[in-house]
Amino acid sequence: MVRAVWAVLRMVSCQGAAALNLNVSGSVIDAASSFRSVHVPFRAAHSKVRHLSSAVRMPEITTDHLDKKQVQLLSEMCILIDENDSKIGADSKKNCHLNSNIDKGLLHRAFSVFIFNSEEKLLLQQRSDAKITFPGCFTNTCCSHPLHTDSELEEKEAIGVRRAAQRRLEAELGIPMAQVTPDEMTYLTRIHYKAQSDGVWGEHEIDYILFMQKDVELNPDPNEIKSHCYVSKEELKEMLKKAKKEEVQITPWFSLIAETFLFTWWDNLHDLKQFMDHNKIHRM
Ligand SMILES: *[C@@H]1O[C@H](CO)[C@@H](O)[C@H](O)[C@H]1NC(C)=O
Ligand SMILES: *[C@@H]1O[C@H](CO)[C@@H](O)[C@H](O)[C@H]1NC(C)=O
Repeated sequence: MVRAVWAVLRMVSCQGAAALNLNVSGSVIDAASSFRSVHVPFRAAHSKVRHLSSAVRMPEITTDHLDKKQVQLLSEMCILIDENDSKIGADSKKNCHLNSNIDKGLLHRAFSVFIFNSEEKLLLQQRSDAKITFPGCFTNTCCSHPLHTDSELEEKEAIGVRRAAQRRLEAELGIPMAQVTPDEMTYLTRIHYKAQSDGVWGEHEIDYILFMQKDVELNPDPNEIKSHCYVSKEELKEMLKKAKKEEVQITPWFSLIAETFLFTWWDNLHDLKQFMDHNKIHRM
């Protein structure tokens, strides 16, 4: 039963059906009318998805039905932070991404990398169907978390976060680490956001935005990535329109960044310094 519910939730999480009745164990849950409180201001485009997700009562947390490689990654230790990005501890990737903990305020440090090629096209990835959160969604080049290790905890000039980005660009997209060194990444600013993926899993992070322009070699891991593509500004605008019509699915953080800062930053790839703001945390 749990497995069947999960399948439906997964579909809903990225597809955002308008209204849904789930008949779970003989009881009908009206997703549209019974959703709990909405925790943070969030774009209208995604509120529907979040309402649907939060409507369903918490199923037992079992990972049996999930991809084994992705489940292994759930034991990695993320960096717990307070609302001002001061580190306060460590917890597993699993605990950091459970809505039951997020609802209590659990927050971790993360990053989002945007790589542009020499034609100024942005590299997008489509998350694999094996991903536990936001499977099948298109998103920016790479999004993940620094780990609670000495090397990735180091905060001076966000070097720990940039090292984590280098590690994940290799792991997900197969970009040789020598082609994406931390000093080549521009750390712009931080974004604090929260979003549910489905009834069980979600995100609540302070996200370091890292930009980089370089032609890189790619060798994506199919367990992480379903497809990838380079898009121009016009092509991305088309994709965002399609996402609004639910013809394509994109992650909530990418949608937020695309609706706010992305195009301005993109217009100024050669002069990003003016947008570097390491004091403010943008609450979205
Ligand atoms: C829900 O399932 C129960 C048991 O299978 C069934 O008796 C009931 O009619 C169903 N309700 C709806 C609205 O489909
Ligand atoms: C975060 O910073 C603000 C502004 O300086 C302060 O009011 C707040 O108490 C801080 N939060 C924590 C958890 O320290």
